[in-house]
Amino acid sequence: MTCKMAVFGTGYLGATHAACMAELGHEVLGVDVDVDKLARLEAGEVPFFEPGLDEVLKRNIDAGRLRFTTSYEEAAEFADIHFIGVGTPQKKGEFAADLSYVEAVVDSLAPLLTRPAVIFGKSTVPVGTAARLGARARQLAPAGDEVEVAWNPEFLREGFAVKDTLHPDRIVLGIDPVRSHRAEDVAREVYAQQLQEDTPFLVTDLATAELVKTAANAFLATKISFINAMAEVCEASSADVTVLADAIGHDARIGRRFLNAGIGFGGGCLPKDIRAFMARAGELGADQALTFLREVDNINMRRRTRMVELAKDAVGGSLLGTRIAVLGAAFKPDSDDVRDSPALNVAGQIQLQGAAVTVYDPQAMKNSMALFPTLSYASSAVEACRGADVVLVLTEWNEFRQIVPQALGNVVRNKHVIDGRNCLDPAAWRTAGWTYRGMGRL
Ligand code: UDX
Repeated sequence: MTCKMAVFGTGYLGATHAACMAELGHEVLGVDVDVDKLARLEAGEVPFFEPGLDEVLKRNIDAGRLRFTTSYEEAAEFADIHFIGVGTPQKKGEFAADLSYVEAVVDSLAPLLTRPAVIFGKSTVPVGTAARLGARARQLAPAGDEVEVAWNPEFLREGFAVKDTLHPDRIVLGIDPVRSHRAEDVAREVYAQQLQEDTPFLVTDLATAELVKTAANAFLATKISFINAMAEVCEASSADVTVLADAIGHDARIGRRFLNAGIGFGGGCLPKDIRAFMARAGELGADQALTFLREVDNINMRRRTRMVELAKDAVGGSLLGTRIAVLGAAFKPDSDDVRDSPALNVAGQIQLQGAAVTVYDPQAMKNSMALFPTLSYASSAVEACRGADVVLVLTEWNEFRQIVPQALGNVVRNKHVIDGRNCLDPAAWRTAGWTYRGMGRL
């Protein structure tokens, strides 16, 4: 069955959700306050790099199932199903999440709701937010108690956003068990195709649904910091963390995924989500339960410092006057996202210590230049490495894995490579005359 829906926010989450809901056959209106972004989307252009999303966007605009607007009035008139997909960034100078964008959607939309409606929140929010927004929506809406707020967290990964949205590994829906009478039925219609594919569907209370998302990200962050802590011990004892990860990963209870040691996690989600989680637990008086996340954060930030130290060691103790090539700026491959990117953070720290740093990334150049305009940028990996004293591989793009060490050896000043993602073959580089250093491996 075709549903009509509005999706508020056309960033990573919102644009992907809107396009994928249209792909499922629904009629979708994407809403944003950013006129330029909407113009690009209307023209079929995805404002960020996400493999496969542009085809889905174009196909559904052409089919007439997907449109965009800045008008909340139009959205309220068009649909009785509304998704909130705006950002919840970290507040400046605090750990807590900034909920102003989510609140603005409810405050602008609810007064326009004259018919029964369901608002599904998809943004990552501190536990307790959905109940509060529900009360606010009921109070502001002419339709009053006929307006429901439910929480339907999004688990998509950048780089796999289309697949994760069309074929999620689970759908979680938080509803108010006392007040809700329609949200679950509406969600079953919206996600009918996924449910037919036997996607696990978990209906919970609002607080549990909110917590599922933060708990999942906290677990993933902890897993990465666990292996990075092992990397520190491996470094101190001349062991190899990549082999260790393979070996413990064979235990199905542990699993090999998310056990890649390196310069740690970044991006627009994991770092800010674990901090917001700690802040919220503090407000709830449960801060002790999450003190370990502070250590998870510490271990993660130490990896960046460690990379700077390794670069310094490679040039004999001082970075002053050296030339450093940085391959990779995105927080992970197949993305142009540089929010809290460990790679750019390391590049910036090294530059501050007096090195001339040249960065190359296959997709994230534009965003990197906007965030770190004082770094130098090259148009290819080879250009970035020309005359370099050390080459740092900081994002594991395939393009960097495929570099032929012999060829690159001809353009650098000194053949030192440091593999911040343990993604290169140490033997191949050493055979070609390079000194190779990984993270937590010899
Ligand atoms: C994450 C969650 O995975 C996703 O479910 C949630 O919806 C949003 O946050 P994303 O931010 O796209 O997704 O990136 P993810 O693939 O989780 O990687 C996060 C960071 O961890 C990256 O910087 C990546 O390089 C790093 N990472 C990942 C490691 O350092 N080691 C690993 O083994 C895995």
